[in-house]
Amino acid sequence: MFKAFPCLLPISLLSLVWAQQPRPLVLWHGLGDSANAPGMLRFAEEIKSVHPGIFVHSIYLEEDLDKDRQAGFYGNVNEQVQFVAEQLAAIPELETGFDAIGFSQGGQFLRAYVERYNSPPVNNLITFGSQHMGVSDIPTCGPRDFMCQIARRAVKAGVYSAWAQEHLVTAQYFRDPANLELYYSSNKFLTSINNEIPESRNETYTRNLASLNKLVLIMFAKDKTVVPKESSWFGSEVVVEDLSFTNDRQRVLADTRIPVSMHEQPLYQEDWIGLRELDERGDVVFGVCEGAHMDIGDCWEALVIEYAGGDL
Ligand SMILES: *[C@@H]1O[C@H](CO)[C@@H](O)[C@H](O)[C@H]1NC(C)=O
Repeated sequence: MFKAFPCLLPISLLSLVWAQQPRPLVLWHGLGDSANAPGMLRFAEEIKSVHPGIFVHSIYLEEDLDKDRQAGFYGNVNEQVQFVAEQLAAIPELETGFDAIGFSQGGQFLRAYVERYNSPPVNNLITFGSQHMGVSDIPTCGPRDFMCQIARRAVKAGVYSAWAQEHLVTAQYFRDPANLELYYSSNKFLTSINNEIPESRNETYTRNLASLNKLVLIMFAKDKTVVPKESSWFGSEVVVEDLSFTNDRQRVLADTRIPVSMHEQPLYQEDWIGLRELDERGDVVFGVCEGAHMDIGDCWEALVIEYAGGDL
């Protein structure tokens, strides 16, 4: 039989320990990775050595490692984000909020979570090499990465087809500056989280994004995978037609792409998503990692010290 102990002391001890708990952290892996891939597990361990006692959750779409990797290529992103919202809401440790780190496409997917759900709420959102303004080319694949190559070929074959927009993940953030009308009419993910369609702008998205404490946007200086790499800073490109000459001095119209910075985007200037509000409050942080796409090296550590694991 159990004896009832006076429980005053244990409770006060517990609350003392609780008060020192660092804020939990949620990770969303990138394309080609999975929630429990060795690199993700190592990253979680390194974070725990920086913030002892921190609770870290790595988002999964499938419990099985290979299927989870596959879900990075194939699936409906809107449904995936909803699935993740349910997953996060069911984790008791996250109840009072958390910081979040999104790697590559995981970054814009976490932003979608913030805008649409944010329950429990995100405090700081840190994104590494993410495609916030989409990509104008489909990320290239490693030579032996057949799953990636097949998905890439399928995307290139008909990126704006209804099928691709429902089933191929990268198609759902493909934003071709030479074909914007088609993008506006067929894309159901990036157009939505960027509030690009005037009739379906959602003020909840704006309010939720502006409720972040900090939005930390990291670009990889030598990124050749994300085109343009400035998408990680909400940059994009516009196409202008340019008169140029071929070798035999024939005049042709050539497409020239000119970069558009975050501050030049209508999305920013008219503040469709709360980004301008955040920025004018001083809460958008721009950072650079020196390497190629997702070549994080030790670039994460100072960021994790500053923007993760704060007091609950
Ligand atoms: C706006 O987004 C919220 C959160 O996702 C949703 O509950 C709501 O139905 C949306 N409003 C409209 C008008 O679509």
